[in-house]
Amino acid sequence: MTLDLFEKFNPILNEYNSLPNGEANPFTVSMEKVLSPTTAIINGRETVLAGTNNYMGMTFNAECMEAAQEALTALGTGTTGSRMLNGTYNSHKRLEETLKEFYGTKHAIVFSTGYQANLGIIATLAGPKDYVVIDADSHASIYDGCAMGNATVVRFKHNNPENLDKRLARIRRDDPKAGILVVLEGVYSMLGDQAPLKELTKISKDHNAYVLVDEAHSIGVFGETGRGVAQEQGVEDQVDFIIGTFSKSVGTIGGYCVSNEPKFEALRLVCRPYMFTASLPPSVVASATKALELIANTNLRSKLLGNSMRLNRGLSRVGFEMGTTGESPIAAIIVDDQNTAIAFWGEMIKEGVYVNLALPPATPNRLNLMRCSLSAAHTFEQIDFMLEKFELVGKRLGLLEEISESALA
Ligand SMILES: Cc1ncc(COP(=O)(O)O)c(C=O)c1O
Repeated sequence: MTLDLFEKFNPILNEYNSLPNGEANPFTVSMEKVLSPTTAIINGRETVLAGTNNYMGMTFNAECMEAAQEALTALGTGTTGSRMLNGTYNSHKRLEETLKEFYGTKHAIVFSTGYQANLGIIATLAGPKDYVVIDADSHASIYDGCAMGNATVVRFKHNNPENLDKRLARIRRDDPKAGILVVLEGVYSMLGDQAPLKELTKISKDHNAYVLVDEAHSIGVFGETGRGVAQEQGVEDQVDFIIGTFSKSVGTIGGYCVSNEPKFEALRLVCRPYMFTASLPPSVVASATKALELIANTNLRSKLLGNSMRLNRGLSRVGFEMGTTGESPIAAIIVDDQNTAIAFWGEMIKEGVYVNLALPPATPNRLNLMRCSLSAAHTFEQIDFMLEKFELVGKRLGLLEEISESALA
């Protein structure tokens, strides 16, 4: 008898099939046309995009587009090979040089996605006798990197220095010579809270551990030259590996790791998610290189954080329960009931605002979130439009008191 491999998916399929059909289904919606970094046509209607992670609005940057088009014409649509074989072009090396200059590090390795960068670096660095110590709210790519490797995985409470200290002390007591890799994120993607890197890196170093910081949501956004939260908090010299992505502020796709570790280049010979996949196409490499140059010198960071304060404050003012209070370009409204969250999403799209609906298990503490991630390209007018619609729908669904201070006050 053949066993049904799909039977185990029945519970999630049942849940999925109970979602509303048509335009209010968050998992079937598609962009009919993208007009700009902040607007698209969805369900035939012009919609403000409030959840793209396009922090710097780079997807339509004229210089990045021109660089991509030139590379496409000169070098074709793809490399059809891994970085180990025919997939390393001069432009891939130039991109790695640009990353080294951007971070002031000795080494940089580019991956085909940020997901693969975490997968590859974590699984390869931490071997059978080593430990990986991760924050409980880590991104799926960090968890998957742990699952792919052979190290012992230890979790500590989210952003909790005392708990990290306790975990590391115990590992050191049991195994004084163990290799330990502590994995942190600059900004946590669901609620948008920053890590207290000063405390966490100090504790890690006190226990002789290596530190990796994933700056996926903070590159471009924080730090004097946009290097992220480690730069912002002045602890770059305490961080051994920085992971990042080109899929958010940089406006394209790809991932990377930078480091000053003397033997870092050995990873090119042993890191399977680097070796056994095709390299990035030349057009992507060209636009990423140009975007990094622009991000280092931009004055868009203060515009972005101003946008974030405006949205976070407006949403708090009318009485929404927020994940955090404007520490990053991410603003997340907490909705107690999952069906109400799904309805909220559906009403917002009908009103012309696209938000990210984030549900468990992708969220911390099984929260249901209406998650916005703002762009420097958003105008105050667009943010006020979002606020007006959030307030309207919040009242319609009974989430807000009828009498409240207006979000726009
Ligand atoms: C914290 C974090 N790390 C890594 C990634 C993966 O990035 P990419 O989209 O480049 O695969 C993401 C993407 O959502 C992320 O939020």
